[in-house]
Amino acid sequence: MCGIVGYIGKGDAVAIGLDCLKRLEYRGYDSAGIAFFDAEENRVRSAKTLKGVADLGRVIDEKKTSPVAICHTRWATHGGVSEINAHPHGDCHGEIWVAHNGIIENYKELKKWLTARGHTFVSETDTEVVPHLIEEIIKGNKARGGNPSLAHAVREALGQLKGAYGLVIMDKTHPETLIAARNFSPLLLGVTDSGYVVASDATAILKHTNRVIYLDDGDMAVLTGTGHEVYDVGKNLRETTEHTIEWSPEEAEKGGYPHFMLKEIFEEPDALKNAIRGRLVPQEGLAKLGGLADVEERLRNAKRILIVACGTAYYAGKIGEYMLEEYAGIPVEVDVASEFRYRKPVFQEGDVVLAISQSGETADTAGAIREAKEKGVLCVGIVNAVGSTIARETDAGVYAHIGPEISVASTKAFTAQVAILALFAVYIGRMRGMSLATGKRVAEELQKIPELVAHILETQVEHIKEVAEKYREAKNFMFLGRKYNYAVALEGALKLKETAYVHAEGISAGEIKHGPIAMIDKDFPAVVIAPKDSVYEKMAGTIAEVRAREGRVIAIATEGDEALREAADDVFYIPKTLEMLTPILAVIPLQLFAYYAAVLRGHNVDRPRNLAKSVTVE
Ligand code: M6R
Repeated sequence: MCGIVGYIGKGDAVAIGLDCLKRLEYRGYDSAGIAFFDAEENRVRSAKTLKGVADLGRVIDEKKTSPVAICHTRWATHGGVSEINAHPHGDCHGEIWVAHNGIIENYKELKKWLTARGHTFVSETDTEVVPHLIEEIIKGNKARGGNPSLAHAVREALGQLKGAYGLVIMDKTHPETLIAARNFSPLLLGVTDSGYVVASDATAILKHTNRVIYLDDGDMAVLTGTGHEVYDVGKNLRETTEHTIEWSPEEAEKGGYPHFMLKEIFEEPDALKNAIRGRLVPQEGLAKLGGLADVEERLRNAKRILIVACGTAYYAGKIGEYMLEEYAGIPVEVDVASEFRYRKPVFQEGDVVLAISQSGETADTAGAIREAKEKGVLCVGIVNAVGSTIARETDAGVYAHIGPEISVASTKAFTAQVAILALFAVYIGRMRGMSLATGKRVAEELQKIPELVAHILETQVEHIKEVAEKYREAKNFMFLGRKYNYAVALEGALKLKETAYVHAEGISAGEIKHGPIAMIDKDFPAVVIAPKDSVYEKMAGTIAEVRAREGRVIAIATEGDEALREAADDVFYIPKTLEMLTPILAVIPLQLFAYYAAVLRGHNVDRPRNLAKSVTVE
């Protein structure tokens, strides 16, 4: 959701902070703000804007330099979008400043208590209680002759906060100190040559350093320009380990594409190669998933797999369900993580929870894992962001290795997740009776997939753009698919909704006769996913049913299928592959269709309204 940055050191904190914040704008972009120590005036200055990070440089004096700064890009939860509600928030005297990602659940009680003690609040946010609470604690500590330090007060304040937070905190009286704290919201420390940079995710800091220290829930880091101390939830100083991030800064840039979404779609062939690389032994029909080695025996004996995820990752999980049941013969249930964690799932011996997440920071998915772990259930993950919360909290897992995904609309993560689920089906299937021939067949076809995706990108893009223009006036779309491509219909509809703001429904083709076909008329087109697979005849029947109600049809068909060229109004062709892998190919035209539909409507493609890249609050 929100993005936070803090810097302390010998570098220019304002410039470094704003540079990192720019790269976090995808996390939240309704307002942005900065607070920094102005040594000449011996005060903390703050600036806020509703116009984005670029505008912050304008509202502060760009020549201002500072040894310490905190910055924030907001996705509103408590309080509307306004400069007053934008972070950072200060205490009564503008000395203690806080930028926050998460939700302070007990802010109302704290606000009441602090107000009664004379504190004045200016915003509607939950966050504003934090600087006032610290101020109150320091005041009390001084009055009692106790420890007046910022770190001491913050530790005490954290003990009173309920909820989720990533926090960066600075104080006019202690400009040599920056404090960072995390609880259920992502936050990491970057170690640069000139000092420390704190940020919500690694992509923000890559230009400045690839050396990171991950913070755990309950951690509080006390940073000076030259050193750091990290205290755990029990207030004990703990040892930290520095990790190296392998992503290059260029991977987080647009590289000549007009939008990250288009760049990331065109990266899919390489992303798929990276997701598969070194993980297949085609001649033996095996998948090698090193990240699962420690739990291999438990997976061999698993009796049921429970997949939990949100949004696009959930749709990938639905495809995984079909793959694992058909190829590995293991029962699978797939749940939206936000439902799973609250529906009191009944676990059985032999259950394995599989969490799927690009960011690894989705609060509901992390919450679902915690629910399962509390009951002693083995949790494994398919995650892209290395070192993220879900990656660290699962017992074992497989990284997607697709580089950073910046566009809010998830594209390359989806195809990589489906590819990894196919690997997982072979991995677990071969332990449980899948034949060598079947293992070989899946492995061989999976290896060809990156080239087939590249082929679609080489041959279909201009046509998809034209078709998006042709249907520009349509206000509703139905996306229809069956079996493996039912989830692709759901995903195609989600992409169109979130990027083009066009109403779209993904429906199982078998269900339309039970109600939804009533909506079809000449103004309500259907996108029908009908590759040559085991349900092809049924999908051809669906196309006929829609056309018989004057509905226009855009079909996704297998190359060479002339019958569908006749039957549908427009066709996007994909190459032939194994049925279980068709979702990886069929989704590509739908991602491009949504992209061009959004561009034609003049929307901010990479940052759709009301959305954020990582949903780090429930
Ligand atoms: O980072 P995650 O994969 O856990 O994110 C899950 C969803 O929030 C995400 O896929 C969302 O639905 C995207 N906006 C879809 O494009």
